[in-house]
Amino acid sequence: MKDKKNQNLSSLGKFIEEYKLSDGVRLHMPGHKGAFGFEEDLTEIKGADSLYEAEGVILDTETEAASLFGSRSTFLGTEGSSQIIKAMCFLALKHYHEEGGSAEHPVILASRNAHKAFIYASMLLGFDIRWMSREDSAYSLCKCELTPVELEKYIDEFNKTQEQDRKSDLAAVFVTSPDYLGNMLDIKALSEVAHRKGLLFLCDNAHGAYLKLLKEDLHPLSLGADMTADSAHKTLPVLTGGAFLHVSENAPAGLEKDAKKALLMFGSTSPSYLIMNSVAESLKRIRKSDYDETVQKLAKLKGQLRALGYVLYGDEPLKLVIDLRNSVLTGPEFAEALRSYGIECEYADPDFLVTMWSPYNRYPRDTERFISALSELAADYLKKAKKKPAEFNFTLPQVHFSPRDIMFLPHKTVSVEDPSLIGKIAADAVLSCPPAVSPIIAGEEFTENIVSILLHYGVTSVEILA
Ligand SMILES: Cc1ncc(COP(=O)(O)O)c(C=O)c1O
Repeated sequence: MKDKKNQNLSSLGKFIEEYKLSDGVRLHMPGHKGAFGFEEDLTEIKGADSLYEAEGVILDTETEAASLFGSRSTFLGTEGSSQIIKAMCFLALKHYHEEGGSAEHPVILASRNAHKAFIYASMLLGFDIRWMSREDSAYSLCKCELTPVELEKYIDEFNKTQEQDRKSDLAAVFVTSPDYLGNMLDIKALSEVAHRKGLLFLCDNAHGAYLKLLKEDLHPLSLGADMTADSAHKTLPVLTGGAFLHVSENAPAGLEKDAKKALLMFGSTSPSYLIMNSVAESLKRIRKSDYDETVQKLAKLKGQLRALGYVLYGDEPLKLVIDLRNSVLTGPEFAEALRSYGIECEYADPDFLVTMWSPYNRYPRDTERFISALSELAADYLKKAKKKPAEFNFTLPQVHFSPRDIMFLPHKTVSVEDPSLIGKIAADAVLSCPPAVSPIIAGEEFTENIVSILLHYGVTSVEILA
């Protein structure tokens, strides 16, 4: 029986199981010594391999992941896409310098809905950010539409401004897709533009590891990204923290040669074996057919909700996002109502309620409870809006400093309603988590436009330069 169980395990899982069963004397870390049910939590003992110099059972997991995702190389991380995004930016900058780039602060062109890990990457690695953002009357914090034509224009405009002043250079393009609301960009066309312009294309795919498992492969790496950051834990059966850095077959040769160093720069030297093992085991467990079936279940559920009068949002197959822009209910109010039915959602803001589904929900129990609760709540949802949908016409604030230059300057907290805020400089992004996306970044100037957005999202105080 034991042997049979062992046969189905990954090589990391087998090692851990055998060590557990050997019942030896643990004179190594961690301090729990396997007590309290923590027997599977190990450290880099002989045979357990070492994440940042993997050549044994952890390398096996990375090789298996690379084969599943069709990458040239896949690297495992235990500290989420937050770690992977920083490592990915490091590799892009390294490549820029190796190709002869000499700007003191190279620039990454990024869609404005970037997660805070990207801002922190710019502070830590010293690159500048040039934001891509539409003047958009349907602004939403988490969304940033970007067409290939727009991307090309951003690149050309940047290059034109640099003709006189050769101090900065573009090193890469960075986008977030899918975003928190389930919007997906046209990665194929966007990456083609970046490549035609000689730029690396990086994708924060924190929400989209599972896109590889769909009948139609929608993973950004398959569609043309050079590197992606995938939070395995968000959509695969993996413990929180498990993540992948994928490097494409088509990426420039050698792009990944310092990947381990890059990950170590932003991670602990004691990565969690529980997390690594959960990734190794998930690769054994995942069935594409389970994801296909779940997509079909979700498509049916979405149809039922539409029939009840709900307006849904976003394209991602396993997110179900309710659009509340025309409802009297706000996201947090709706989320609270669902809580009284024992349903906990992923994220709510004034305009949207985000739910995330996977093959590991309990079917039909979860869909039935969800539809039953939403049937009862439909009348409240459909009450004609007294509130006018918010329209902000978001415009990028003026930049006075880079986030890096402002990092150590003195700052103070002020109320968003303080009229003297207009014209002051933000000392930090406004980044509660989720979604850890901010309308204003450190170094930018507060405008009335930004203040109205902050108030809409319920932000009451901000940090400004003292
Ligand atoms: C778009 C996006 N990128 C990156 C991250 C960071 O991912 P992780 O929590 O795996 O560090 C998140 C987290 O929610 C996210 O929403």
